[in-house]
Amino acid sequence: MGETAKLEFGGKTVELPVVAGSEGEKALDISKLRASTGLITLDPGYMNTGACKSAITFLDGEKGILRYRGYPIEQLAEKSTFLEIAYLLIFGDLPAKGEFEEFKENITHHSMVHEDMRRFYDGFPKDAHPMAILSSAVSALSTFYQDTHNPKDEAAVRMSIYRLIAKLPTIAAYAYKKSIGQPFVYPDNSADYCSNFLNMMFSVPCEKYSVDPTQAKALDLLLILHADHEQNCSTSTVRIVGSSMANLFASAASGIAALWGPLHGGANQAVIEMLQMIQQDGGDIKKYIAKAKDKASGFRLSGFGHRVYKNFDPRARIIKKACDEVLAKMGKRTPLLDIAKEIEEAALKDDYFVERKLYPNVDFYSGIIYSAIGIPVNMFTGMFAIGRLPGWIAQWCEMMKDPDLKIGRPRQVYTGANERQYVSLEKRK
Ligand code: ACO
Repeated sequence: MGETAKLEFGGKTVELPVVAGSEGEKALDISKLRASTGLITLDPGYMNTGACKSAITFLDGEKGILRYRGYPIEQLAEKSTFLEIAYLLIFGDLPAKGEFEEFKENITHHSMVHEDMRRFYDGFPKDAHPMAILSSAVSALSTFYQDTHNPKDEAAVRMSIYRLIAKLPTIAAYAYKKSIGQPFVYPDNSADYCSNFLNMMFSVPCEKYSVDPTQAKALDLLLILHADHEQNCSTSTVRIVGSSMANLFASAASGIAALWGPLHGGANQAVIEMLQMIQQDGGDIKKYIAKAKDKASGFRLSGFGHRVYKNFDPRARIIKKACDEVLAKMGKRTPLLDIAKEIEEAALKDDYFVERKLYPNVDFYSGIIYSAIGIPVNMFTGMFAIGRLPGWIAQWCEMMKDPDLKIGRPRQVYTGANERQYVSLEKRK
């Protein structure tokens, strides 16, 4: 037996195996704990719980490191593209030229959604949140492709992967077009992934529209930075849903639902709304820093803090730099960027934020680029979903091949009433 840790309980000593990861992290294997001691572990929010072994994404929150399949995020952000990252995450290595061409070809040729799905959009209210539409529509994809549900059928799963990555931008752009009463724009298979999305979002039949390459590149960068982040809330959701052998569409739809919340992907929308509010209120940064420190106010600085990053979020650094470059290239200035930078500067000097290790996270600056591109605020989290989709898929596929796979089913410490006897309604006081 390798390294172990000893636990004493009830006069007994049990040895717990220590599992080591490839970057030196160590974990106690407690899978036999209950059988040998009757104990379970209690860890609200899974602050100290590893749910799986994974070879996809490494992050070190203390050092601000993020790597996909071993490649530093800084290198990937500078040199790669979103579809190449999707391949890397899902299949484990950067593709050879032929592999990549085939992958791109397959994604490109599944970009249309079934015509019957267009009618779904008529059933939603005009002001429906795009995340609700995205999650419903992705779940509905499973009704059109019932022959690809088996998570153990590799060819079927591969087809679902192509369909999901290809169709999510179309589904999202249709949601936007519906909300503003414009006709849906079919995908253009001659355009690259991000240019096609921008075309579906912003072109109209009566006018010429050409995609600005700066915007398409900026969008591609944001999608790369969002593509995976190991066992975050939405990814854990996808894994737990998939662990019941639910199909990939259903699992991805659950990830979209989890991502919607303002403590997770919804933070990018919350940040822009916060910056707009501060601007409209006269730009008094100090007032809002004080409010964020006052627990009674219920106000938090959106886009600040992270469960894992306790030094800096490397994605936020890359996006902050890109904000300056993209806005300059597009000839756009926004006071919101100045407000964001002032907040960051003030917070990083403030003991409250320093002591709690609260730094800007990926969402703090991303909304500024989305706004500059013209993406409406309520679509921000949907953009995050498009970016995170390859990560969800990679994690789901890895889990399906894991020989240790078991249905996800945590235990609990019951704190309710002890056994009592039923009293009929007439006799109850
Ligand atoms: N503003 C003010 N105070 C904060 C903030 C914030 N943004 N974030 C955390 N704190 C404080 C908490 O009040 C707490 O203080 P205390 O120790 O005095 O009680 C302490 O910092 C630790 O915060 P927790 O909520 O316990 O940390 P946790 O790891 O559970 O939460 C989270 C992380 C959810 C990201 C949190 O920092 C937060 O709510 N941030 C704002 C929302 C946000 O930006 N979410 C996006 C996350 S990134 C992503 O999902 C892509």
